[in-house]
Amino acid sequence: MQIVTYPHPTLRHVSKPLRRVDGEIRRLVEEMFDLMYQAKGIGLAANQVNLPLRLFVVNEKGDPKATEHERVFLNPVLSQRKGRAEEEEGCLSLPNLFGQVSRPERIAIHAYDLAGQEIREELTGMLARVVQHETDHLDGVLFIDRLTPTGQLEVKSALEEFELIFRNKVERQEVPSAADWKAHLEEWQGKYC
Ligand code: CO
Repeated sequence: MQIVTYPHPTLRHVSKPLRRVDGEIRRLVEEMFDLMYQAKGIGLAANQVNLPLRLFVVNEKGDPKATEHERVFLNPVLSQRKGRAEEEEGCLSLPNLFGQVSRPERIAIHAYDLAGQEIREELTGMLARVVQHETDHLDGVLFIDRLTPTGQLEVKSALEEFELIFRNKVERQEVPSAADWKAHLEEWQGKYC
């Protein structure tokens, strides 16, 4: 498992809800936490590890020792968006790129945890922001889509650089063909969605 970077096509995939959880999913979640900590992140969505599953992991402290802050959200649905706040965001799939993103300040989330327990919470502050950022990933949305027109202009050349690197990988056949990628997603969706 590795974190895929922009413009990998799975980052634009709209993932389908999970229908079941088994030992393999629990192992994947453990691996996602490990990768997230290695990359010094505070959230990681399944799309970012090339899996078309509606789940993400969060530790708003980014500290592997702060296990009390580890959260897993399956099939999240957000509602009751209130207020507006602007903060700088980054993304493990867009390394070293940052931008100001305006989002609702407070949200309600309905989701499930790994044990199948229902989660109903109202979130605010950092956790509300991370949860919105990660839920966006499951819908194929990246924070760069939410920048102001000026913000978009500021990241344009960096994005072109990412695109060039990816095109070179495709040409050198270091990334799977479109057909293999599609088969990979369908296999996972067939198994869990
Ligand atoms: Co991200």
